[in-house]
Amino acid sequence: MPLRRLRIEFFRCLTQVELDLDPQQNYFFGPNGAGKTSLLEAIHVLGRGRSFRLRQNKRLIQYDAGGFTVFGEVHSRDRRHKLGISVDAGGRQLRLDGQSGPAMTELARILPVFVIEPSIHFLIEGGPGERRRFLDWGVFHVEQGYIPAWRRYRRVLGQRNAALRAGQDPASWDQVTVSAGMQVTKARERYVEELRKALEGMGEAMLGLPLEVNYRPGWRADSTLQGALQKSRQRDRQTGATQVGPHRAELEIRLGDRGVREEISRGQQKLAAAALVLAQVRVLARAQEHGGTLLVDDPAAELDDSALGALLAVLEDVPAQRIITGLTETSLAGSQPPSRFHVEQGHVHPML
Ligand SMILES: Nc1ncnc2c1ncn2[C@@H]1O[C@H](COP(=O)(O)OP(=O)(O)OP(=O)(O)O)[C@@H](O)[C@H]1O
Ligand SMILES: [Mg+2]
Repeated sequence: MPLRRLRIEFFRCLTQVELDLDPQQNYFFGPNGAGKTSLLEAIHVLGRGRSFRLRQNKRLIQYDAGGFTVFGEVHSRDRRHKLGISVDAGGRQLRLDGQSGPAMTELARILPVFVIEPSIHFLIEGGPGERRRFLDWGVFHVEQGYIPAWRRYRRVLGQRNAALRAGQDPASWDQVTVSAGMQVTKARERYVEELRKALEGMGEAMLGLPLEVNYRPGWRADSTLQGALQKSRQRDRQTGATQVGPHRAELEIRLGDRGVREEISRGQQKLAAAALVLAQVRVLARAQEHGGTLLVDDPAAELDDSALGALLAVLEDVPAQRIITGLTETSLAGSQPPSRFHVEQGHVHPML
């Protein structure tokens, strides 16, 4: 469901911002330091509970203010929800449709937020944990039971590791580890299959080469998880930690016959990572009526004219609400008449 109204108070340089957003495409232009990224961060906090730039929400509070608030209204043809998040010295408070205390996952389901921002290449260049988080975020939106399954696996893994550290034989934990671990694995495998389909043609359109993904479950392909746990038992006891399982999974990404981590440029990594996020939006849109809200921060950064053109062209057809920032209008001329805003010194005004 698209985000139609937004109110931000005391969030970084944004003292008081109130906006009506277009359900499809929105552009925010303004000079360096105006507050464009801050605006996207505020939306990200509302849908995901935290910023994409830093972990501590308290640091997002405006200097000298006691706390920040972000309110949003999402509308679809037949549904409408009001979401709110505020953070002050006492912590985080959430609101949903006038009630306080919903779980963050409830807000996240109503406002699925995706982001393409200048450090997105970490998805490619960073460790496997980055890609597991990317996967888990996608699976969460399309499979209702995924979060409980994932939490159960983390709990069982923690118990197995505690047994290992206490010098006990972990064998008695293997069966529950396998049952919880396979639930996570199966859901991720189904998701990667959908992601693969959604990626079809995207690598060619954006990078001139096919972009492919492959899920490696966290243990050797020629073994079962049960067998891998048995085999790893001695090493697990030596290290005091379970060495195999979905917590060691990897999403392998290839561009044509090249590995994307070491063999392609930074600009190409950004495009490949952007394509993965766009595929994630497509998977969500196929599972539901809408692909959520896609934040695109400063796409012109580090992309040449042809790469930027390819990205903007693909963005036009993404089945999600787009909220895009840039320094100047000319850098991001789109073919659709979008809703445009000017951002300056923490103030946001619609452009006529
Ligand atoms: N907690 C805070 N309180 C007040 N102002 C802050 C806070 N954190 C950051 N700022 C200021 O907010 C301003 C806006 O930053 P933001 O990153 O949103 O700008 P931007 O428009 O995205 O700029 P750029 O084009 O350079 O990316 C900066 O000048 C920054 O110093
Ligand atoms: Mg910025």
